[in-house]
Amino acid sequence: MKLFWNLIGWAGVGVVLIGCRHAPEGGVVEVPVTFAAARQVLETNCVHCHGDYRLKGMPPIDTTRHLAKLIGPGNWIVPGQPEKSRFFQVVIFPDEIPGAMPPTGHGIGKAEVEVLRQWIVAGAPMPEGRNERLRPMGEAPRSR
Ligand code: HEC
Repeated sequence: MKLFWNLIGWAGVGVVLIGCRHAPEGGVVEVPVTFAAARQVLETNCVHCHGDYRLKGMPPIDTTRHLAKLIGPGNWIVPGQPEKSRFFQVVIFPDEIPGAMPPTGHGIGKAEVEVLRQWIVAGAPMPEGRNERLRPMGEAPRSR
């Protein structure tokens, strides 16, 4: 009997998740898609390397102004199209691909990947106004 209720419970969770995933534009979505949410993911997983000492080929992710310059059709972040955004492609590469971000050795959580995806799907909204610095949070990915 307990198993039965457990199964009902999980089915419910499934319905909720699927329901959220297909929520129409402007509908209720489970994962926040604001820049604030994406910012936290970038500050935890990317900003450590993609700042002042980055290599030439690395897009800068360290200020809102730099980030805004990466957004646009044919650019690193294609609004509304995570699958066409190089910025997102590298995040979902499997570990064995050398270009996987963050580089192999650090796993970015599924929930964080989903935040980035939904932010891009929402058109990669950025705050208006003054330039803000993104600050690396926590240990540099790959420090162990
Ligand atoms: C440990 C350091 C490090 C972290 C953390 C990191 N990157 Fe990178 N990133 C690199 C290096 C190194 C390169 C390759 C530079 C080169 O050789 O051109 C790179 C390249 C890239 C590129 C360019 C890929 C291409 O096709 O040229 C993108 C986009 C990128 N990173 C996005 C991200 C994102 C998004 C995150 C966070 C989820 C992240 N990176 C986290 C070090 C890092």
